[in-house]
Amino acid sequence: MDLVGGRIIEGQLTKDERRIVREMICYATPHCCVECGTWAGGGSTRAIVDGLMLVKQGQLHSFELDADRAAQASAAYEREMPSLPDDLLNIYHMDYLTGMIEIMDAVADHPIDFAFLDGPERSEFTISALRHTVDRMPNGGHVMLHDWHTGKCDGVRAILPRLPGVELAEVYEAGPTGMALLEVHR
Ligand SMILES: C[S@@+](CC[C@H](N)C(=O)[O-])C[C@H]1O[C@@H](n2cnc3c(N)ncnc32)[C@H](O)[C@@H]1O
Repeated sequence: MDLVGGRIIEGQLTKDERRIVREMICYATPHCCVECGTWAGGGSTRAIVDGLMLVKQGQLHSFELDADRAAQASAAYEREMPSLPDDLLNIYHMDYLTGMIEIMDAVADHPIDFAFLDGPERSEFTISALRHTVDRMPNGGHVMLHDWHTGKCDGVRAILPRLPGVELAEVYEAGPTGMALLEVHR
């Protein structure tokens, strides 16, 4: 069991990274969270879900390109956290870039105020994901990027000084590849 009562689900972030993500959700109290890269569902996804449970508000829309992983994650939540409130967690087997835009246009009644990006190891993809996400965020929104020191985030590190309205707030060394927190200022 963990702190909000569900059983452990397989995931990739370190224990300290999960705690940081959960605490960030408790601090920011977002209404609408999006995520790129659910994987098995028990890493960043679970940390966001636990945070939303603790603050008793908000939704997560999590996008996973791999069909087997998306199904595995959905099944894990049905099995291990059957009492999760309706609509708190929505896992989509979709590419983040197309899926996020399509789904957020269709279902969201609130702008995205928190995003967690942990998708493919492709720098250009991460830049596009960040740009599309930030475009939909209000002042005070937060984006966390996993694998900050790897090739996944090379491009973002390079363009960040020229990206209007986005500031690097923190880099966490709570895992081998780092994790960054960006803040949106309008
Ligand atoms: C590093 S793993 C994510 C780990 C997860 N955040 C965790 O904490 O356990 C990256 C995931 O991104 C998924 N992915 C790759 N390209 C994607 C895309 N275009 N859209 C959504 N997910 C994608 C991969 O299938 C993989 O499951």
